[in-house]
Amino acid sequence: MIVRVHFLPDNVTVDAEVGEAILDVADRAGVLIPTGCLMGSCHACTVELEDGEIIRACITAIPSRKELTINLFSDPTW
Ligand code: FES
Repeated sequence: MIVRVHFLPDNVTVDAEVGEAILDVADRAGVLIPTGCLMGSCHACTVELEDGEIIRACITAIPSRKELTINLFSDPTW
């Protein structure tokens, strides 16, 4: 199943597969999610989903839904 993923604040949209790693999808979209440990322990890669859920991108896969908005905390205007 294809999930339409929107990245904010860059406002980039890409199609992704359910279960794909969010970091890989961001990479394909040309969106840089900061990372550190890649193991879920440093929280460098923390992003927010549209429903307010806070996730760590390095240990999170694309969930099964039609569309997903991922809000990067690194937005300087936030
Ligand atoms: S890169 Fe360290 S928690 Fe994701």
